[in-house]
Formats: sequence, structure tokens, C-alpha cells
Amino acid sequence: MDIVNNKETVSEKEEIMSHIKDASLAPSGRKKIEWVRRFMPALTEIERRFEKEQPFKGLRIAVSVHLEAKTANLGLVLAKGGAEVYLTGCNPLSTQDDVAAAVAEMGIETFGLHGVSAKEYEDLLAETLACHPHLIVDDGGDLINLLNGRCKEYADCLIGGCEETTTGIHRLKARERDGALPCPMMAVNDAKAKHYYDNKYGTGQSVWTAIMDTTNLMVAGKTVVVAGYGWCGQGTAMRAKGMGADVIVTEIDPFKALAATMEGFRVMTMDEAAKIGDIFVTVTGCKDVIVPRHFAVMKDNAVLCNAGHFDCEIDIASLREIAKSSRECRNNIVGYEMSDGRILHVLGDGRLVNLACGMGHPAEIMDMSFSVQALSLHWLAEHKEELETKVYKVPDSIDDEIGYYKLGAMGLSIDKLTPEQEEYLSGWSVE
Ligand code: NAI
Repeated sequence: MDIVNNKETVSEKEEIMSHIKDASLAPSGRKKIEWVRRFMPALTEIERRFEKEQPFKGLRIAVSVHLEAKTANLGLVLAKGGAEVYLTGCNPLSTQDDVAAAVAEMGIETFGLHGVSAKEYEDLLAETLACHPHLIVDDGGDLINLLNGRCKEYADCLIGGCEETTTGIHRLKARERDGALPCPMMAVNDAKAKHYYDNKYGTGQSVWTAIMDTTNLMVAGKTVVVAGYGWCGQGTAMRAKGMGADVIVTEIDPFKALAATMEGFRVMTMDEAAKIGDIFVTVTGCKDVIVPRHFAVMKDNAVLCNAGHFDCEIDIASLREIAKSSRECRNNIVGYEMSDGRILHVLGDGRLVNLACGMGHPAEIMDMSFSVQALSLHWLAEHKEELETKVYKVPDSIDDEIGYYKLGAMGLSIDKLTPEQEEYLSGWSVE
């Protein structure tokens, strides 16, 4: 497996230099990258093709995604396809310094430090964009925000980009509506090969892995409150139920709420759920889901965390103000003591728990999501002459290719429609 020597595909330019914490951490990061690569066969297949075809030759790609091993692998695959890759994180707490060191050593310009302030985080993104990218991969819309504002001057070579997550797509669509989109963007999150698996099964597993590892507490027998029953919430609630929790769902959409009820979950408002929950997971993409009136009635030792993209779902700023005192109870757990002595425990500062306190989604899941990213970037590069400044749907051909490849890699086959069946399904005849 030759993942080491990508140097020849990376820019000779000396002025942009990797910004990482400590190069000596590279051996640990390298092990993590080598491990996940073994479980990302679809992306490896794409890498082989890219290596031959060099679709990104002469193109600079800025990637802002949670900077951990699977993302490092995506960077390496794009570099194999001829791109100069500039890698950064998309959250101040999800960057893994050892992975950043390893991928920088492997020849990718990397701008990532764990635990930085909001300002330092933005500076790292700006440093990344200073490459004047042709293509971008965004996760939550922070690159797009900068390219529209502080980093406008770096947008002069932009062909287009891809957006990884639900919240980012909402913002792109709002920008499209308001005429504020700086370049064509592909809605990677909305591809079937992405959200059916990543949001549901990826979040479902990785959120609980992170909560259990961080707290070392039982899930069985606990009352778990999941706020939001969208793709991620369904996975989160399903896995909690599977581990023996009593699951409550809160929603604002009547149909999602009905679906949760029919799946066997209790549905109620957060005002009611706040009094009885042991573990709270917000995953709505909305803000102010858990606020001071909820903190006021929560049980002693309640555990609060968020799996939505931004850290605005739980009002931590108010919790800090209300609390009599706070202390670090364990790594990634801050206990806030209320005036009546109750302690509320917040994981990962309310940032998405599976990345701030865990390793993110399983490799097999990110194999699919990042295959969509890689093929969508290729599609943008191929169609650069005819692109309009709008949000593009990922073509079905890309989804299908990944779906069939993944089935094959798992040793599974499915039936094929006969010509007669195709005709029957596409017509109105009853015969
Ligand atoms: P979705 O749109 O499928 O689901 C969101 C659900 O939350 C909807 O059913 C909506 O009705 C509900 N909701 C909105 N506001 C609410 C409120 N105030 N109270 C209760 N329910 C509310 O979105 P999806 O794909 O499930 O993503 C949710 C969030 O998770 C987004 O921010 C997304 O970017 C993020 N995400 C996080 C991942 C992770 O690894 N932690 C992975 C993928 C997405």
C-alpha cells in the first residue's frame, strides 16, 4: 500500500506550509490511517482509477472536514488523482493532532490543531483557502462563509465544491435563494449513498460509542431523550433502544413524531422530557433545543450531549452563567453545579459528540460518503465549462456506482429487473 509518497503531486510552492501541532505524533496517526484504509474498499477502487486518469491534475482542492483518519484518506485519494490537496478541519475539537501530523508527513498540506479557539479555527481555514482553490469540500458551510467574506480574494479560481452535511446544505439552499452562493455546489449529503447510511447508521453507532467511552456508564435501563427524529435521530434512537434504553423522542414535525411513536418510542415535548431524561442527545440542526428552563428541571447527574453539526443546540453559554461552579469530571466531561446542588454533565462542550469525544463514523460508512465526495469532485472538474452557480444534486449514476460497488465489496448480490419488469414498472398497463 503506497500511501507515503504523494510528494510529487503536491505544489512546489513554499509559501503555504502545513500548520500542525507536533510532527512527532505522526506514527500514531499513520497507524490510524492505515487501519481505516483497509475498510474503505470503494474509495480505494476510485483511487486506483484516479491514479491512472489523473482527473485533478493542475487543480488545488481545499478540504474542510473533521480532520481524522478517514478524512486523511480522502485527501490522499484526491492527491493520487493529481490534485494539490490542502486539508483542514471543520470543528475546533474534532481534529486529531496525530492524524494531522501523519497526513502532513505524507505530503498533504495540512492546517489542523485540536482544541483551538473559534478565532484560531477560522484562521486555520483562512490559511487553507490561501491556496486559491479550484475545488472545495465543505462540511457545515464554513469555507463557503469565508469565501463569501474574509477570504473573498481567494475565490478567484473556484470551479465549485461539495457539501458534506445536512446543516451545510440548508445554508447553501438559503444562499442560493438569496443570490449569495459564490460557486456551484454539490449536495453530497443528499445522495442516497451518503445520508441513508452515514447519517442513520454512522451517527447511530458513533454517537453511542463516544458517549459510552467518555462516560463509562450504562445505557441499558436509562431514559434517553433524542431531540430530532430525522436521519441522524432515527439512528441514534434505534441504537439506544437496541441497548436497552427507554427512548423518548422530541420533535417539531408531526410526521416525524408519528413515525417515532410507531417505532415504539415515547414522544413528548422537551419541557416534559427534561424532567425524566438521564441522557440527552440533540441532533436537530436547530438552535436552543435545550435551554435554561430545561436545565432548571433536569435530574441530578443528567448527561447532555449534541450530535448536530453546530454547538448551538444546547445553550451552554447560559448553563455556564447559571451554574454555581463547574469542573472537569473526566476527560471531555464538564459538570455544572446548579444552585440546588444538582450536577449536569456536558460532553465535548456541546460540540458534536461522536467527533469531539470519539473517532467519528465507522470506516465502512465513510467509505461510502467519501466515495460520493471523490466522484462528485471529479464530476465538477469534468463539467466545469457548463456549471451554473446553483446547488446541484449528485447524479444518480454516482449513487448507483457506489451502491453496486459497496454491495459487491460486501459479497452481496441483488436481483436485476428483466426487460419485461422494467416495461411493467415504467408503464400504466395492468397486464
Ligand atoms: P434531518 O433534517 O433529517 O433531521 C432533523 C430533525 O430535527 C427533523 O426531523 C426536524 O423536524 C427536527 N427538528 C428541528 N428542529 C427541532 C427542534 N427544535 N426540536 C426537535 N426537533 C427538531 O437532519 P439530519 O440529517 O438528521 O441531521 C441533523 C443534524 O446532524 C444536522 O446538523 C447535520 O448536519 C448533523 N449531522 C451530524 C452527524 C454526526 O456525525 N454527528 C452526521 C450527519 C449529520
